[in-house]
Amino acid sequence: MTQIAPSLLACDFGNLEAEVCAVEAGGADMHHIDIMDGHFVPNLSFGLPVVEAIARAASIPLDVHLMIEPYEPYLDAFRDAGAHRIAVHVEASPHPHRALQAIRDMGLVAGLALNPGTPLETVMPLLNSVDQVVLMSVNPGFGGQRFIPETLERVAQLRSMIGDWSIDIEIDGGVGEGNARDLINAGATILVAGTSVFKAEDYGTAIAALRA
Ligand code: DX5
Ligand code: ZN
Repeated sequence: MTQIAPSLLACDFGNLEAEVCAVEAGGADMHHIDIMDGHFVPNLSFGLPVVEAIARAASIPLDVHLMIEPYEPYLDAFRDAGAHRIAVHVEASPHPHRALQAIRDMGLVAGLALNPGTPLETVMPLLNSVDQVVLMSVNPGFGGQRFIPETLERVAQLRSMIGDWSIDIEIDGGVGEGNARDLINAGATILVAGTSVFKAEDYGTAIAALRA
């Protein structure tokens, strides 16, 4: 079954604990947490103390998406802050293999994120070391952007490249009711949704609509 990961980037940070509880009550499978450094991506979000606060309020896994360069010095700190899954960008370091191993050695789920312009072939040598591929369906850095339609073809291609490997395909950016079904049919297993969940009147209805 498809898993839904609301992106807290779009939540009301003045009511962080209530927002965390509200999406959980609405049926979220994990919290997607976007860490931006103003260098790898042209925007800043939040850091470790906020992740710790989310972890204190949460009772489902934290899916941390690192849009930072370098990321190597911070992997332990995000584990300590409460991450269950950590995704690093393949474009952010020449040593993704080492990072994936380090994340797994910490007992966490190891994710590799690809920008929209990054060839899927980058993933092939890493299949044995990766648990989750995050295909960006917008250029990372901001919530509320328009879904890049070519992503659908990339999901299908990645699905056939992955074959029998048990690896999640997570789609991040501009995901909503209008494209969720196509993404799932193409092979996505986790959908990240910021705007389409947090700007909805009822989080539970929005989450159910993505799954359907
Ligand atoms: C973009 C982030 C996304 C973003 C998704 O850089 O990685 O996770 O929060 O937000 P929406 O769903 O609004 O595009
Ligand atoms: Zn993200």
